[in-house]
Amino acid sequence: MRDIFLDISLNIRTVDSSIISITITDREGATNVYEAPTDMNMNLMEVCKAHELPVKGTCGGMALCASCHVYVLTDHELPEMSGDEEAQLDQAFFVKNNSRLGCQLRITPEMDGLAVQLAPESE
Ligand code: FES
Repeated sequence: MRDIFLDISLNIRTVDSSIISITITDREGATNVYEAPTDMNMNLMEVCKAHELPVKGTCGGMALCASCHVYVLTDHELPEMSGDEEAQLDQAFFVKNNSRLGCQLRITPEMDGLAVQLAPESE
């Protein structure tokens, strides 16, 4: 019986370890914590859409529309900005030093505890 509980406990831990928490503040200022899987090759734009946040993701994650523009509020070490992301942000509105395109941020375990705020819509 004890082995069964140990198995269940280990399985729960394995499942839990692939889920991280990300705090997202929407455009109305409401802040919520959302779960995001690290093993489904998702990016932050897709996580926002999955939780029905008002992120359009118009270009499908190709760094071509900036509808997934977010401000990073924590000091997590995130992947370097690609040339495409930098070029798109150069043309976007409301850009700040902590701006990133959510579609270019693949969800990884290191992002646990990340906090972002949705940038204003520019359309
Ligand atoms: S979804 Fe278009 S730039 Fe991110």
